[in-house]
Amino acid sequence: MNIEVEMPGTKQHGVTRDFEPRTIEDMDRRRALGKIALGAGMLMTAGASQLVAASDAATAGVVVVTAATGNIGRRVLDHMLTSGARVRVIVRDASRLPDRARPHVEVVEGSHSDFSSVDGAFKGADSVFWLCPPDPRAQSVMAAYVDFTRAACEAISKHGVRRVVSISALGRGTPMAANAGYVTASLAMDDLIASTGVNLRALTMPSFMDNLLRQSEPIKHQGVFRSPIDGDRKLPSCAARDIASVAARLLIDRSWQGRGEVPVLGPEDLSFEDMARIMSEVLGKPVRFEQVSLEAYRAGAIQRGMSEAMAQAMTDMARAKNEGLDNAVKRTPENSTPTTFRQWCTEELKPAVT
Ligand SMILES: NC(=O)c1ccc[n+]([C@@H]2O[C@H](COP(=O)([O-])OP(=O)(O)OC[C@H]3O[C@@H](n4cnc5c(N)ncnc54)[C@H](OP(=O)(O)O)[C@@H]3O)[C@@H](O)[C@H]2O)c1
Repeated sequence: MNIEVEMPGTKQHGVTRDFEPRTIEDMDRRRALGKIALGAGMLMTAGASQLVAASDAATAGVVVVTAATGNIGRRVLDHMLTSGARVRVIVRDASRLPDRARPHVEVVEGSHSDFSSVDGAFKGADSVFWLCPPDPRAQSVMAAYVDFTRAACEAISKHGVRRVVSISALGRGTPMAANAGYVTASLAMDDLIASTGVNLRALTMPSFMDNLLRQSEPIKHQGVFRSPIDGDRKLPSCAARDIASVAARLLIDRSWQGRGEVPVLGPEDLSFEDMARIMSEVLGKPVRFEQVSLEAYRAGAIQRGMSEAMAQAMTDMARAKNEGLDNAVKRTPENSTPTTFRQWCTEELKPAVT
């Protein structure tokens, strides 16, 4: 099946119009019913085991987790196993699954870009956690996200999958969205999934705090981290653990329907200068932020082995973020998540750089 996708932000079409960003009204309704524990204004303040009613998990049917060995996916898998849901994973290499998980999951070995994998995995599936893996060597960013997702969309339709929770990005509806590299492609991926008619919640994120782990070496040895984004631009940022918690609850919750976005904004907006100060305090040594030019950023990515197209896409995304791509969604208690940057630095950055 070849589904035409139009780029969000360039032209309205049926799917995009249908796919307006929503608040999480379904969650609020559930909270009012007392079925899901939401802590003081936060989407998630505790482990999914506390948040997901056991009765929901038991009746939820098969939950398919893609990218189950990745940063977000492995945490989603943990939550699903704790919840008691029946879990199926698609992995390229089953030996990369944690030992504790293997006896409790059904495994489909292969890439989730291949029809044979998703055809096998989606049979009888109620919910799918969909994460398109970063492919730094792809020939185009649309190939990396949209083409990667085509077989899954065919299998979603074939097997009547009820719900998909996708990993996506902030930016829909902004003037920058049409030329924002990875983000443009992520939004087009969501449109493609939405065009199947499946119930969809796209989790829309700013940059992850976890990205800083890629700069562990310069942080550790030179006390510096770099980005082409202005050091004083305040931006939301969120922790992968919180994204996984939000995804886990939606995968188990059978009350929502339709298509919409769920922004996951972290607890506060911080600039890179703010982050440098917090890192310095937590690590007990000076860490400074250094802004690099977009051209140096692009050249550095190519030098590290990225294809020209993906390096350009990453650069386009950075430019768009510097023009306000991530600042368009109004922060509310419902779209704020709990892990602070200071907590993340203490628990995840510090062990990686000391
Ligand atoms: N980083 C950000 O700031 C940010 C912001 C917004 C959205 N996002 C989105 O978040 C996603 C990345 O999430 P993440 O950090 O959890 O990713 P990750 O840690 O890199 O995990 C990637 C996963 O995909 C699997 N994988 C890699 N290549 C594959 C392939 N060709 N076929 C099948 N599976 C493959 C890997 O498994 P194996 O290698 O074990 O097979 C792994 O489980 C991307 O879609 C990105 O666009 C990122």
